[in-house]
Amino acid sequence: MSFSRMLAPLRRLGRLTPLAKHTTTLQQKAFKSDVAYYYYDNYDDDDDTTTNQNYFSEPAAPFVHTAIPGPESLKELQEMADGWGGTGSAADFVADIENSAGCYIADVDGNMLLDCFGQIASLPLGYNHPELMKLLDTQEMKLAQVHRSALGMFPPKDWGKLIERSLGAVAPDGLTKVQTMACGSAANENAFKVAFIAAASKNREAEGRGADEFSDEDRASCMLNASPGCSEMVILSFEGAFHGRTMGCLSATRSKDIHKLDVPAFDWPMAPFPKLQYPLEDNEASNRAEEARCITQVRKAIGSAAGTGQQVAAVIVEPIQAEGGDRHASPWFFQQLQAVTKETGVVLIVDEVQTGVVSSGHYWAHEAWGLESPPDIVTFSKKAQIAGYYYTEELQMTLPYRIYNTWMGDPAKLLIFDKVNQIVASDGLMESTQEAGITLLDGLTTLAAEYPDHFYDARGAGTLCAVNVSSAELRAEVLAAMRQQGVLLGACGDSAIRFRPPLTFTKEHAEIVLDRFHVVAAAL
Ligand SMILES: Cc1ncc(COP(=O)(O)O)c(C=O)c1O
Repeated sequence: MSFSRMLAPLRRLGRLTPLAKHTTTLQQKAFKSDVAYYYYDNYDDDDDTTTNQNYFSEPAAPFVHTAIPGPESLKELQEMADGWGGTGSAADFVADIENSAGCYIADVDGNMLLDCFGQIASLPLGYNHPELMKLLDTQEMKLAQVHRSALGMFPPKDWGKLIERSLGAVAPDGLTKVQTMACGSAANENAFKVAFIAAASKNREAEGRGADEFSDEDRASCMLNASPGCSEMVILSFEGAFHGRTMGCLSATRSKDIHKLDVPAFDWPMAPFPKLQYPLEDNEASNRAEEARCITQVRKAIGSAAGTGQQVAAVIVEPIQAEGGDRHASPWFFQQLQAVTKETGVVLIVDEVQTGVVSSGHYWAHEAWGLESPPDIVTFSKKAQIAGYYYTEELQMTLPYRIYNTWMGDPAKLLIFDKVNQIVASDGLMESTQEAGITLLDGLTTLAAEYPDHFYDARGAGTLCAVNVSSAELRAEVLAAMRQQGVLLGACGDSAIRFRPPLTFTKEHAEIVLDRFHVVAAAL
């Protein structure tokens, strides 16, 4: 036995220290949950792989011993509100990250919730994953953390190699270029610019100019925010879409008015997104007709924009409209959409900010569509930790400063993404996510069948599952009751509840969630 292995029990003992003092409560009794933390640790320090998924110091089940938010959360939230602010003011409680473990998020009141929302879908491997924590000890990570490179001008040694082994290794089939960015909105914002620049370059070539040959008028007018230097091109997005909150992205976002109110917007077109009937397999014919209607509208929107001199440079679409209410469409719809964009010479941007990185049961959700050629651009962020976009060779910028900002991403986040991918492969997280997703969706379907007055339209891909609640008010009640039962879920659209757990969420976690869902449903 190695020295390191001999020390393992002692190390574990250190971590066995109770994280907080927990009093047994009625809820805990009701669910017979184990209030003591215990260590599942099958993780082998001597080995670069994990032996199974239970390597976190997760509790056996969630436990809650205060109202949520509890007194400590309320106090901290009030202090923030009275002080400098700095939050988005939508917090339900204050998290205790240090004491969070695996799929469980701790709050400052000592409650431990099974986290099915995962930092708004952005938590790849749960909390305090030992392998990710170990990364902090590497020289590569230390350098990346302390010196954030201005990548556009000063890429650090081996940056290209890091991109190749991380983003390159999981690139959507057929896409051979990638640009990193800082967040999902920055990824989409720059994807729009790529589409505009590419279309304008083609227009110049069609006029007999070089792709980058600007006239004096172009140069002068753009400084006045006027055409022809600033083009009059547009981005087509879908009703219900969410693509971010920066100025360009917001004009493509159509999910909720609160995101858009008071902010100037571009006059960009919108097409309807299919309103499908669930379960999809029982409603194929009517859903196909609905999708065909939407495709016709896309074609029309591209045509009528052209009629008014507004060239559509790109269509942007989410594989599942997430913030808009977890609305799905079939592979056929996306195939048709790609066909229209190809026919009309419009760039197709697939926004995988929320759906990318394994959780849909594919690495990229659009892999389920069976496209013959890749989308032109695929944007990502959230579970990837780093944001950015993949794109085709054809869309490569030829001049510097066209796509540019100070940091253009963050090497430290890319190192994390690289490690996440290694763990996804070594721990079989694709397979376990698929399995957890099936359990979750089956369970939600059963729940909806048992309580049809309250729940309907269970749907999902991988663990990206959702169910609708009969009203927004009842949804708020259900979410609060689920939190009290120790399960953290998200809302989306008018009345949907969405699941966005980390990739370490297993079938067993899904069973706990479903048990508690039934308790809440029975009490409605
Ligand atoms: C599909 C989609 N696109 C873009 C964004 C914006 O990403 P960010 O919040 O990182 O700017 C989000 C965020 O929720 C999203 O879900």
